[in-house]
Amino acid sequence: MTIFKLGVVGQPIKHSLSPIIHQEFSIRTGIQLQYEAYEVPPEALDSFITNFFKDGGHGLNITLPHKKACIASAHVLSKDVELLSAANTLTGKEGGKKIVADSTDGAGFIRDCEDKNIQILNKNIIILGAGGASQSIIPSIAKLGPAKLLVDNRTKNKTNSLFNQFPEIPLLDLDNFNGPIDMVINATSAGLAGSFDWDIIHGLDKETIFYDLSYGPSETPFLQWASSYSTHKFDGIGMLIFQAAYSFELWFDIPPPTNHIKEILFKNND
Ligand code: ATR
Repeated sequence: MTIFKLGVVGQPIKHSLSPIIHQEFSIRTGIQLQYEAYEVPPEALDSFITNFFKDGGHGLNITLPHKKACIASAHVLSKDVELLSAANTLTGKEGGKKIVADSTDGAGFIRDCEDKNIQILNKNIIILGAGGASQSIIPSIAKLGPAKLLVDNRTKNKTNSLFNQFPEIPLLDLDNFNGPIDMVINATSAGLAGSFDWDIIHGLDKETIFYDLSYGPSETPFLQWASSYSTHKFDGIGMLIFQAAYSFELWFDIPPPTNHIKEILFKNND
């Protein structure tokens, strides 16, 4: 029986939950795989990817800080990757001679919102942050027709670069808005090393949904901050699982069952 060689590449990588998730997908689908976490520095990324696929590798997940740089090693880019200039999934074709780059982060986020009955259509959504995490979900959210898609970032000129990257998407600066906010998405790394605080003067109330793209074994600093407004709070574990499921589907054409993976991850984190 074929054992497919897969992995996730990042720096750092040792806390990645992807090996556990894909191992579980393997058990549930009966597809045999060997999924490893690889710590690779930026200067070794291209040769690592090329050799991985030359040596029979089937697929790679790409995480920070390599989501943009990995594109240089790919031969075919999906439409999403062209738009985002970033990828999180590479697939080897033609015996490793052709590498295809895809991005499943946006689809993973949307699928998790559906799973949690979070509506985007006609809602006012604000994204905190203007880096790679923010970019990766903006086009997917925009497609679902929010009333307003707002962005706020600590460094204002980065917000402008983000607006220039997506000229077709009507993004608004939070400073120019004072209506009600239905959902706040944290796409920053603020609070990862301490507490989280953000100045949102208008529009938050007990119905506002707070969604953190980050996750951890205990409540994230962003969600702790959100507690004073609302009880509708979600971390990024669901998105992590669904983006992994979409990667798996790209590699094997089979959508893996995703139920109860969260509990397995927490059990492994005890
Ligand atoms: P990623 O690819 O994970 O999005 P990034 O491109 O480094 O990483 O972006 C990190 C985001 O978190 C940025 O929006 C950053 O704000 P700046 O553009 O002002 O740097 C934001 N961020 C990080 N630390 C922060 C902090 N302490 N307070 C507010 N925003 C912070």
